[in-house]
Amino acid sequence: MKETALVIVAAGKGERAGGAGGTAKQFRPLAGVPLWKWSASVGERLFKKQLVDECILVVPESAVEPVQKETPGWEIPFTVVPGGAERQESVLRGVRAASREYVLVHDGARPFLSCGLVERLVDSLTDEYGVVPLLPVSDALKKRGEDGAFSPFPREGLWITQTPQAFHREKLLSVLATHGGGAKDEAEAWTAAGYPLRAVRGERRNIKITWEEDFSLAELYVQRTFRTGTGYDVHPLVPGRRFILGGVAFPDFPLGFAGYSDGDVLVHAVCDALLGAAGLGDIGTLYPAGNPAFKNISSIRLLADTAKRVTESGWILEWSDSVVCAQEPKLAAFLPPMVSKMEEVLPETWRGRVHLKVKSGEHVGPVGHSHCIVCFSNATLWKPLDII
Ligand code: CTP
Ligand code: MG
Repeated sequence: MKETALVIVAAGKGERAGGAGGTAKQFRPLAGVPLWKWSASVGERLFKKQLVDECILVVPESAVEPVQKETPGWEIPFTVVPGGAERQESVLRGVRAASREYVLVHDGARPFLSCGLVERLVDSLTDEYGVVPLLPVSDALKKRGEDGAFSPFPREGLWITQTPQAFHREKLLSVLATHGGGAKDEAEAWTAAGYPLRAVRGERRNIKITWEEDFSLAELYVQRTFRTGTGYDVHPLVPGRRFILGGVAFPDFPLGFAGYSDGDVLVHAVCDALLGAAGLGDIGTLYPAGNPAFKNISSIRLLADTAKRVTESGWILEWSDSVVCAQEPKLAAFLPPMVSKMEEVLPETWRGRVHLKVKSGEHVGPVGHSHCIVCFSNATLWKPLDII
């Protein structure tokens, strides 16, 4: 078994992606997840497959502490260290912090690292050879001459270099420490020191986010998984109780919901749809009647807690639709304030994704005779497949 450290460098300024004026690219979200976390998360997966034994993440000095807090529960030994002004300096600090015999140096700006690529790299790795992923150039090339004119340039024999790049750690350390600087990648410093290089097949999906438009391209590459949940609730209407629906109070309506909580059937159904989609059970189990903590509780608070649980499991709301079946009061005009009330406790990125409808009971059955109000909801959630 080769003992290997994954060193992810994410300490740059991201200037070409517009980082100078705001957040550097490695901290911007891709499908709701900070860019650095994509490859770091693959590190966790590689650890579970026993392909990698530790992960070193190199970030700007000011980000070391906040980033350290964002990897709870990972099994891979994970170290965050500050980088330097040049990429080579950041790599050097990362490789120094590593403790295994071999290192894989990876750009934090390449979110779609695959386990297959790492497997090929580790397979080819020896004490002697460095290994890099290469892709043949597929576009026609032009070269601009000193006179400014473009002329064709043969692409035969030219290769695009990706990361991770794999090396014997001690050797790479001495190579980097003695290299004059300015190397575009580790392979350049490695070959300049006279060491041999091998190639494995790179992957077209293993793109580096360099320019602003690469973020939208990367969004298209993200593989998502979707899940849908359903929710249903019914509460009897009785005198002497408050009528609160979708978090909105109707003080002039003479009936209210019988129930242990405030009996808000709409919020309950939405909670159950969300919990169902995330595979987290239902409100009856999470907030049981009989527990004094939930006696007459505002159901909006249950929705806030539900949304927190769903978000912490990595799920993002795509859409939720509900239908409230009620004879009276007339609800159509109150649907927008109900949406607003519920959205107040949902993550900001979920805004505009809750849809409500209302149906009368047509004067038949328990709904039509105002004995109860019924609500049906569904929710569709998604999350990126590659994130742990
Ligand atoms: N990098 C680093 N330390 C530096 C410079 C770069 O760790 N001093 C990292 C980047 O964070 C990135 C990877 O090296 O993950 C590849 O570099 P690049 O794409 O050039 O990123 P930036 O240098 O941040 O971007 P730019 O060159 O546009 O400023
Ligand atoms: Mg750079």
